[in-house]
Amino acid sequence: LRQSWLTRIADASDEAALEEARVAAIGKKGEVSLKMRELGKMSPEERQTAGPALNALKNELTSALAARKESFANAALEERLRSEWMDVSLSPRPMRQGSIHPISQVTEEVTAIFADMGYSVAEGPQIETDWYNFDALNIPSHHPARAEMDTFYTARAEGDDRPPHVLRTHTSPVQIRHMQKHSAPCRIIAPGRVYRADYDQTHTPMFHQVEGLALGEDISMANLKWTLEEFFSAFFGREVRTRFRASHFPFTEPSAEVDIQCSWENGQVRVGEGDSWLEVLGSGMVHPHVLKSGGIDTTKFQGFAFGMGIDRMAMLKYGIPDLRAFFDSDLRWLRHYGFSA
Ligand code: PHE
Repeated sequence: LRQSWLTRIADASDEAALEEARVAAIGKKGEVSLKMRELGKMSPEERQTAGPALNALKNELTSALAARKESFANAALEERLRSEWMDVSLSPRPMRQGSIHPISQVTEEVTAIFADMGYSVAEGPQIETDWYNFDALNIPSHHPARAEMDTFYTARAEGDDRPPHVLRTHTSPVQIRHMQKHSAPCRIIAPGRVYRADYDQTHTPMFHQVEGLALGEDISMANLKWTLEEFFSAFFGREVRTRFRASHFPFTEPSAEVDIQCSWENGQVRVGEGDSWLEVLGSGMVHPHVLKSGGIDTTKFQGFAFGMGIDRMAMLKYGIPDLRAFFDSDLRWLRHYGFSA
């Protein structure tokens, strides 16, 4: 009896077979349990030998069952260790982190500096009507500025004689949209994409501008100069002198082109030092015709506007010689300029 149970336990192939053996041997109705129940019918002499023998058998089987069960658990553990093995000494694959594109970064920097001066951000569509991009800005259809801007026009269906839409050639139409919606006084900047059919080292058909507009009862050209000098110094992290040159834009009167102080040394431009000048933006006092397009009361309000190339600012700040590289999506280039991990 003993040997046959020990063999069955040793041969149990899995935990289920082992449990079956346990029930059949020492379970409530198991063979050993039944024999123990029969002890009561035995004579005292028989009981004295059979009793301890059965008890010993039950104990032996119990420990044999436990030992077998443990060996199953060990085997399972070993199998897991084998299958889940991993070489922790292998060096990890290099991970690349995404990063902010220099143009986005500079847009954020510009926005933050103007935010400190009380400017909020306004937006307008990149596909504009002729009216917002030109007429409302005092550029009537015959005006030469239209031709100079290398405008992209949208295609029209045959027979459609409505004026075509354009890809905005500057961010100035956002001035009009903002005035119409929010009137004066106001202080806004409008960063965004603009489009002109032009392509060389310093021109891409899509580029970025930031427009500025400040309207109030007595805002003057002096406020404009202070604001821009404050901006350039904050942006370049050092004092930057500016030079205002009389100029002409249809949408400002008077108009000024603004240069910033810089030095040129073997092709390297440094802002805020030296005695060269670099043109960086157009500006002026908003023309009364433009204020009227925006529904502003010209007897009460006046103000300045400016338009600046964001890409140009990024090139100057980070010493990037070719504008086109901004839009090549070349990771090696981004990494070289420290814009990508
Ligand atoms: N819109 C002009 C340009 O794109 C810049 C400008 C904006 C000039 C506002 C004056 C006032 O060249």
